[in-house]
Amino acid sequence: MIIGSYPNSRPRRNRQSAWTRNLVRENSLSVNDLIWPLFVQEGENQSSDISSMPNVKRWTIDLIVEQAAKAKELGIPAIAIFPQTPADKKTEDGYEGVNPDNLVCRTVRAIKSQVPDIGVICDVALDPYTSHGQDGLIRDGYIDNDLTIEALVNQSLMQAQAGCDILAPSDMMDGRIVSIRDMLETKKMPNVGIMAYSAKYASAFYGPFRDAVGSTNNLKGGKETYQMDPANTDEAMREVSMDIAEGADSIIVKPGMPYLDIIERVTTEFKFPTYAYQVSGEYAMIHAAAGNGWLDLEKTMMESLLAFKRAGASGIWTYFAPDVAKILNR
Ligand code: PBG
Repeated sequence: MIIGSYPNSRPRRNRQSAWTRNLVRENSLSVNDLIWPLFVQEGENQSSDISSMPNVKRWTIDLIVEQAAKAKELGIPAIAIFPQTPADKKTEDGYEGVNPDNLVCRTVRAIKSQVPDIGVICDVALDPYTSHGQDGLIRDGYIDNDLTIEALVNQSLMQAQAGCDILAPSDMMDGRIVSIRDMLETKKMPNVGIMAYSAKYASAFYGPFRDAVGSTNNLKGGKETYQMDPANTDEAMREVSMDIAEGADSIIVKPGMPYLDIIERVTTEFKFPTYAYQVSGEYAMIHAAAGNGWLDLEKTMMESLLAFKRAGASGIWTYFAPDVAKILNR
């Protein structure tokens, strides 16, 4: 513990000018910290707005390739792909999720062939594909864990074969990490990474994302039987330790800002690459307040991201990624 007393100790001395503040700064944000989630839609040369996520668009494959090139140019290390599946392709069993020619797989192939040097991350979960909007398969009114894992393993295989670099299971089924890792070993794809959403909470902050992928109207009931209770902390430690033991290369805490305590505890206890996901609702809140003139968009955005670094995160998934990169590259 550092003990100091006034007047010999005057903490303001270190804050008196920009250069002293620069010298004593403990944390910083860099372009290398950013993962940019992108939404893809069917069609050609088209984009559509997402009303609850200002400045975020769904892009058709040809245009998302341009976004990937832009990300690469800005120095963003990786992008993540989320699909808006056409309503007529959504079924009870989420079959489109394991179709090797689904929107995500076609997108990954296009990006990998045209922008080879950017990391591509794919979400592993069935919610974009199920008619009920749940992340898993339902048996007797309950999201069946092991049945769902079979589908997730197939989905992972398709995405890995399409060229995805890192699989990011966001489904919160028990044991899915080891099942996916075993599959990758068996199929001789040991270098495909797994970034596990280990501590993913049943959160109200995902609302705008569900608009973006078009699952809002499908979803009946909540996701509380698999996503975590916002009241819990110790349980997150258990989830993280299991996923690390099962073969995850890195983990995610989600949402971000309301769960900074979890990021701090995970990084302190595990010293393992840990990413914060600044989710759609956090993005929407900042934009909504800024749109009303109540907050300064740029300053709030930068402060919200620096907070994750201070809490110990290795990096951040954020829809602000290109805006932040432009500022950092200035
Ligand atoms: C789906 C998934 C969700 C998000 C990422 N993957 C939504 C959910 O679990 O309902 C949320 C992302 C965001 O809100 O930005 N498994």
